[in-house]
Amino acid sequence: MRKPVMAGNWKMYKTPAETAQFFEKFRPLVANSSHCEIVICPPFTDLAAAVAAVKGTAIRIGAQNIAWAKEGAFTGEISGPMIVDTGATHTIVGHSERRQYFGETDETVLKRTQAALDFGLTPIVCVGERLEERESGRTEAVCTAQFLRGIAPLAAAQFAKILIAYEPVWAIGTGKTATPDIAADVHRVIRAQAREAFGKEAADAVRILYGGSVKPDNARALMAQPEIDGVLVGGASLDPAGFASIVNF
Ligand code: PGA
Repeated sequence: MRKPVMAGNWKMYKTPAETAQFFEKFRPLVANSSHCEIVICPPFTDLAAAVAAVKGTAIRIGAQNIAWAKEGAFTGEISGPMIVDTGATHTIVGHSERRQYFGETDETVLKRTQAALDFGLTPIVCVGERLEERESGRTEAVCTAQFLRGIAPLAAAQFAKILIAYEPVWAIGTGKTATPDIAADVHRVIRAQAREAFGKEAADAVRILYGGSVKPDNARALMAQPEIDGVLVGGASLDPAGFASIVNF
């Protein structure tokens, strides 16, 4: 049995004060949600406030990116030790918005994932195809290539610690959710790649989340797919009641 992971990606929204307000409302709504792990990934500047706000609860806090180096001349980057120091435990890596707007590649995704693991953070590694790739029938090839270059080079012991998020780019922030069947199909492709690279046991254990326009009204149908082990939620994770209803699908 894979325990579901319900993760929120706040992207570039909320200040520390707004973070505290969010958790004030959110905490009681998920106080009994032991069926899943809950991870919220706010902007770097909110991490400390978020960690303080979830103290004593099972809610975990993650960053949205991580530098591949421990420290150094990397203007604008935030390192693993800095993230760990805030009390965060997770980090998103390779989100499609990083790939699309900030030049993230499979190679840098791999380096960032390795850095997260080196510093004891759980990476949520994102893969997913763009609209034109889906329309030209290349979904499987694209996700496989992203897996082979960004994830497969990990050591088996490292792979055992990661979470994977399948996020079709055409479904992110567009209101177009992949149907549960479409999502599950790609999850099967990713799991098959995991099996080839790391063996059946590791592939059966890895949790693959779906992301892209997950909302309170579609979370249950997505989670009903045995292949979908959780969700990575953008827009709908900003509202405490809405995200709580996704968590409690
Ligand atoms: P969305 O974003 O839920 O707003 O579509 C998901 C994500 O980008 O992680």
